[in-house]
Amino acid sequence: MKIAVFNGSARKENTYAMTEAFREGAEASGHEVEIYQVGQMKINGCLGCEYCHTKGEGSCVQKDDFEKLLPAYKEADMVIFASPIYYFSMTAQMEAAIQRVYCLGKPLKAKKAALLLSSASDGVYEGAIAQFKAYMGYAGIEASGVITAHGDENRSEAKLNEVKDFAKSL
Ligand SMILES: Cc1cc2nc3c(=O)[nH]c(=O)nc-3n(C[C@H](O)[C@H](O)[C@H](O)COP(=O)(O)O)c2cc1C
Repeated sequence: MKIAVFNGSARKENTYAMTEAFREGAEASGHEVEIYQVGQMKINGCLGCEYCHTKGEGSCVQKDDFEKLLPAYKEADMVIFASPIYYFSMTAQMEAAIQRVYCLGKPLKAKKAALLLSSASDGVYEGAIAQFKAYMGYAGIEASGVITAHGDENRSEAKLNEVKDFAKSL
């Protein structure tokens, strides 16, 4: 499978470690993995101007880093959303990247998706997981897994192995 991983963190720390563990496991099983550092990108929020669904014929009126993600959204067989929790949601860059997919209409070629979340505390994932499941339901994509890491679990061998094993099993 062609797998696109979107990392919502701007840092190369906790979420990054999970995405690299994911890459290692998925590549070991013969999958092709591309990781996009969404947290380091400049992606504006959707303007809701409907240019994409009228004159734009699927293209967005805003020219920014979202253009780097569009091919991945169009071509990946599986998408991985990986993000730190920022106040009970994914990062703003990640949310913008998800909402800008509006220009494609019913999104994504992908048939599978998974969610990787990192946080300081436990019990902060409900909002992000509910959004993920609802969005995947709407898009007709199988939600294949959710892995969370909080506090000391971040970058722990056990957690990174859990991510690796999940990726290997795909
Ligand atoms: C703006 C901001 C908001 C945060 N909000 C939460 C939160 O609501 N709950 C929580 O447990 N951790 C919160 N955190 C901590 C991060 O989720 C945590 O440090 C995470 O492991 C960072 O991942 P990263 O190293 O991939 O950037 C927040 C951090 C920042 C910078």
